[in-house]
Amino acid sequence: MTDVLARLKALQADDLPVHGGRTLAYVYDSGLPDIDRIGREAVAAAAATNGLDPTAFPSLLRMENDLVGFGLRLLDAPAGAVGTVSSGGTESVLLAVQGARDSRPDVADPVIVVPSTRHAAFDKAAHYFGVEKRVVPVGADFRADLAATEAALDELGDRVVLLVGSAPSYAHGVVDPIPALASLASSRGIRCHVDACIGGWVLPYAARLGRDVPPWTFAVDGVTSISVDLHKYGYAPKGTSLLLHRSPALRRPQYFSSADWPGYTMLNSTMQSTKSGGPLAGAWAVVEALGDDGYLTLSRQVFEAVDLIVAGVAAIPALSLVAAPDSSLVAFSTDSSCDAFTICDEMLDRGWYVQPQMSYAGAGPSVHLSVSAGTRAHLDEFLVALAASVAAAQEAGPIAVDPGIAAYIESLDPAALTDEDFDGLLAASGLVGQGDSGELELPKRLAEVNAMLDLASPAMREALLITFLDRLQRPSASR
Ligand SMILES: Cc1ncc(COP(=O)(O)O)c(C=O)c1O
Repeated sequence: MTDVLARLKALQADDLPVHGGRTLAYVYDSGLPDIDRIGREAVAAAAATNGLDPTAFPSLLRMENDLVGFGLRLLDAPAGAVGTVSSGGTESVLLAVQGARDSRPDVADPVIVVPSTRHAAFDKAAHYFGVEKRVVPVGADFRADLAATEAALDELGDRVVLLVGSAPSYAHGVVDPIPALASLASSRGIRCHVDACIGGWVLPYAARLGRDVPPWTFAVDGVTSISVDLHKYGYAPKGTSLLLHRSPALRRPQYFSSADWPGYTMLNSTMQSTKSGGPLAGAWAVVEALGDDGYLTLSRQVFEAVDLIVAGVAAIPALSLVAAPDSSLVAFSTDSSCDAFTICDEMLDRGWYVQPQMSYAGAGPSVHLSVSAGTRAHLDEFLVALAASVAAAQEAGPIAVDPGIAAYIESLDPAALTDEDFDGLLAASGLVGQGDSGELELPKRLAEVNAMLDLASPAMREALLITFLDRLQRPSASR
């Protein structure tokens, strides 16, 4: 029976490492084995409990209230503020949008107003909940443009149920002008949500360390809700985020109850109903074990690493920062001597995962780093790998996509992409082979695929990648 665990370990051999500070996306590594162990053991201890009914598992209610209390104190919430633990940033964002929509049953055609740098979770929320979204282009500094936001709010009037800002935005790592956004919202009686999913647990400690952090918490009048993820800079196991509200009245529309069926009365504060208590317990244990002092120490390491990376990027002439980072995210672009996608491949060859970002709204591709505390101890190696990767990318030269393939992509209609179109693209590019069993085989180096996708419009990228995922998610015939 234990054989399956060995098989699980074997299956994980090709996964990115989650420890060691060398994976600068998707995972957040404290670099503290004891913290990882405590989180893991707590997840296992509560894995079979069910958060569907917190009265049946009072430990879960207690841990949720403890976590929310910690978050509210950290984010300067006033007395009486409340919150909920959700399964992740996307669920917190979905609930913020759903709650805003349902707080205004009088509005027949609700709209959310978001800066163009918002996380795509808001697009998903608009899509799921039938809410319109108005995307307002940001300024040259990648921060929300106040005049354009004000004009959108004036134009849309009573239809607006939510205004959004980020602290910080994922792609560029800068904090929106939250006081001004919140004031625009509150003067119109609109909710203002700050998406601090990625930065919310690290920015308060950055401020305590004396760094210059623009105001964005509940200390800012007019901020009605904040999302902040524990499974990012809370260094908790995956599966927890907080959605915090300034008052119980603001949270109220988030609740769902149904007694109108023959079974138990369903009563939920989140989108899930039955849910494992494991992630909640994992987060609780990690937050209790680290406490304020632990997070301050980890944040110091994060920002030492960020400063060293910023200096390292400045020392490489081919690279430039997309924006000076306000937080723990660094994005840099290249000059014409090399390209960002090849640098990502070269870094992976050297044992570092860094994330490629495609061209968007006139800005070229870039390399994105989510810097964790666990990376600090390996920063010298990171900088050596970065310099070598840039040199190798320069040696290879920027990728030129075959003009025939570029024309083929251009000719496809994203709204009507068929499996045949996708097969045609695979065949034309010669990039992705189909194994004997008909399964997709990804090449080891992705720069050429990324360069090809970079030429496609966002709608075309979405269509291509959905087709791709649909192909991946099929049980193997050879199993
Ligand atoms: C600003 C922001 N909001 C929302 C999310 C979505 O979080 P998750 O991936 O946990 O659903 C992310 C994820 O990186 C993020 O950076």
